[in-house]
Amino acid sequence: MRVHFRTIPRRGHSRIVGALSTALLCTAGLTALPAAAATPTAPTPPGPAHTAHTTGTTDAPRLPDGLATTPPMGFNNWNSTQCRAEFNEDMVKGIADLFIDKGLKDAGYEYVNLDDCWALPERDANGKLVPDPQRFPHGIKAVGDYVHSKGLKLGIYTSAGTKTCSDVGFPGALGHEASDARQFADWGVDYLKYDNCNNQGVDAKQRYRTMRDALKATGRPIVYSICEWGENEPWEWASDVGHLWRTTGDISDSWSSMLGILKQNLPLAPHAGPGHWNDPDMLEVGNGGMTDTEYRSHFSLWSMMSAPLLIGSDLRKATPQTFEILDNKDVIALDQDAAGKQATVLESASGRWTVVKELANGDRAVALFNESDQPQRIATTAAAAGLPQADGYRLRDLWQHRDSHTTGTIAATVPAHGTTVYRVSTDRRWATYPPAVEAGTDGPPLVEAGTPAGLRTTVGNLGATPAKDVTVALQAPRGWRIQATSPSKARALPGGRQLGTTWQITAPAGTAAGSYPLPLTAGYRPPAGARVVTTLPGTAHVVVPPPAGTPYASAMSWMTSSNGWGPVEKDTSVGEREAGDGRPLTVGGTVFAKGLGVHAPSEVTLYTGGRCRVFDARVGIDDESGGKGSAAFEVWANGKRVAGSGTLTGTDAARPVTADISGARTVRLVVTDGGDGVDHDHADWSDAKFTC
Ligand code: GLA
Repeated sequence: MRVHFRTIPRRGHSRIVGALSTALLCTAGLTALPAAAATPTAPTPPGPAHTAHTTGTTDAPRLPDGLATTPPMGFNNWNSTQCRAEFNEDMVKGIADLFIDKGLKDAGYEYVNLDDCWALPERDANGKLVPDPQRFPHGIKAVGDYVHSKGLKLGIYTSAGTKTCSDVGFPGALGHEASDARQFADWGVDYLKYDNCNNQGVDAKQRYRTMRDALKATGRPIVYSICEWGENEPWEWASDVGHLWRTTGDISDSWSSMLGILKQNLPLAPHAGPGHWNDPDMLEVGNGGMTDTEYRSHFSLWSMMSAPLLIGSDLRKATPQTFEILDNKDVIALDQDAAGKQATVLESASGRWTVVKELANGDRAVALFNESDQPQRIATTAAAAGLPQADGYRLRDLWQHRDSHTTGTIAATVPAHGTTVYRVSTDRRWATYPPAVEAGTDGPPLVEAGTPAGLRTTVGNLGATPAKDVTVALQAPRGWRIQATSPSKARALPGGRQLGTTWQITAPAGTAAGSYPLPLTAGYRPPAGARVVTTLPGTAHVVVPPPAGTPYASAMSWMTSSNGWGPVEKDTSVGEREAGDGRPLTVGGTVFAKGLGVHAPSEVTLYTGGRCRVFDARVGIDDESGGKGSAAFEVWANGKRVAGSGTLTGTDAARPVTADISGARTVRLVVTDGGDGVDHDHADWSDAKFTC
C-alpha cells in the first residue's frame, strides 16, 4: 500500500535544505559558494541613483521601492502547460493579445510571465542563459518587445539554486545573480519569479537578498517574487527583500489543494501590505479540475487575501464562464484596494466562514464562504464586520453586481463550496436601494419517488423599506408535482418580516435515486425601481427507502460518499484507485463477506427514512495495511453522533460498534484519520447492517 506524501513536490524536485558538500558542488562543475555568497560586483546601472552592494547579507533595506503597491496581476503559463511544448512564443503572444481583446488589461491584468523551461539546459560559453530556440525562436527580448508594444509587462522565472525545479534542470541563478539579472533587464523583463530548487543548502535570506541586490543594480524596476514555498517563513524577513513571497507549496487544480492553501495563507494577514504580499500561488480558475462555483470561491478568496492574481489557464481555450470570473471588476477591486489589507477571519464553524477585508474608503468586504458539501446559511452583521453604527447600509453583491440595503444583517444561504461576497458601505442614500431580501429553505428535501415530501421556504426582508408583491416559486424537474400548502405570495413584506411557505414535492414513481435541481425564486417590487428577482440554487435528493429486515449497508443506495483515496467499496477493502479494485475485507485475521471498505477521511450517508432502529458493524483497519495506519469510526444519526469506536490501529482486532438510530432519516458513517494523518488508513465497516 502506498504511503501518501501529499506535500512532496511534483516531478521529483530536489528541495535540498541541508548544506551539500563543496566536493559535490565541484564535481558538478560549479563554483562553491562560501558562507557569505560572493556576488560579482554589479555593473554601474543606467537607472536611478543607488548604492552598489556586493554582498547580500548586510544591506540596508532596499524595498519598498514603489513597485507592486497593489498585488501584481497577470498571467503565468505554469498551471496550464508546465513544460509541455505548447509553452512557447505563440502562446505568450496569444495571451497578450487576449489581454487586450477580452478587456483583461482594462481590468488590471498586466504581467505576462514565463515560468520554468524557457531556457536551454546549458549556459553558453560566456555563462549567459540561452532561450530554447524551439519555444522562443526569436529570443526573449522579441517576446518582451511584443508584450510591451501592447502596454503590458514581461515576467520571467529562474531558481535561487544551481538548477531550476523541472526534472530537466535548467540553469539556476545561484552564483550567477548579477549576470542573469543583467540579462533579464536587457531583455526588458519587468518581473522575476525566483524559485528554491537545488539551493545547495545556502541560507535562504542570503540567496534572496543577493538577487534582490542584483536586480536593483540593473537599474530596471523589476517586481521580485520570492518562491521558497514558505519554508523559511519569508513573511518574517522578506518585506524588504521581495514584493511578494509564496507562503505554501504548489497549488494544483483541485478543491482540496485550493482549500489547504487558503487555510495556510489566511492566518498570515498581518504580514501583507503595499509592496509586500503573501502569495498563495497562482490561479487555477478555468483549468477544469474544479466547478465554476469552486473557481468563484477561489477567485473571491484570493482577492480577499490581497493575493497576486496571476491567471493560470490557457486563455486561448477558456470558456465564457472563465472570462466572466477573471473579469469580475467588483471582486478585483477588493484585491487591488489601495489600503492593501489582507482579509481576516471573523468566524469559522462547521464549514461556515465569514471573512472580512477593510477597504481604503472605510467599506468592508464580507465573504461568506461555505466549505461544506451542503448549502448552509451564513450570517453576520455590519457592526461585526467593523462598520460604524447606522440605520442602514448599502450592500453590493459582487457576483450578482446588484445593490440593496440592510439594516445590519448580512446573510445568505451559500451553496456547497460557494462564496457570496458583499461590499458593505455606510451611505446616506442607503434607503434608495431595494431592501435586501434573503431566501432560504430547511432543505434539501429527501424525496421517495411517488410519495409527497415536505419543504419549508422563507423569504425575509433584511431592509427597512417594504418589499411589495412578493412571490415565491420552486422550479422542479419536468413531471414533478409542486404544491404550496400555505401562502406563497404577500402584497407587502415590511422590513424585518418573513414569508414562510410550506410545500409538498412529489417525484413521479420510478424516478431514479440521485440529486435533482430545485431552485427557489423570490420576486418583489422595491418602493422605487424595477422588480427584483433572486434565485437560490437548490437540490432535491430522490432516495430509496431501506428494505425491511436487516439490510447490509453495501446493499442500500447511498445518498453521498466521500473517501480519502479511491471510491468507497462494497463488500471489499478500498483499492485506492478505480471502483472494484479492493480485496476481501479482513481485520485481525477474520475475513468478512459483507461491509464497506473506505479510506480515511471518509463519509457515507445512507437514507433510513425513520424506518430503522439499529446499526451495527465490526470495524477496524484492514490487514492489508500491514499493521500500520489508524482510524476512528463514528456513526451519526440525524446530525448527532450516536456511536464511536475510538481510535483503532492496524494491529487491533475488529471492534463491535452498535448504534441506536431510531427515527433517523439519514445515517452518516464517518471515518477520521485517528489524528496521525491518513497514510495506510484502509478502514473497514465489516458486517455493517441495519435493523429496519
Ligand atoms: C516550483 C514552483 C512552481 C513552478 C515550478 C517550475 O514547483 O513552486 O510554481 O514554478 O517550480 O518547475
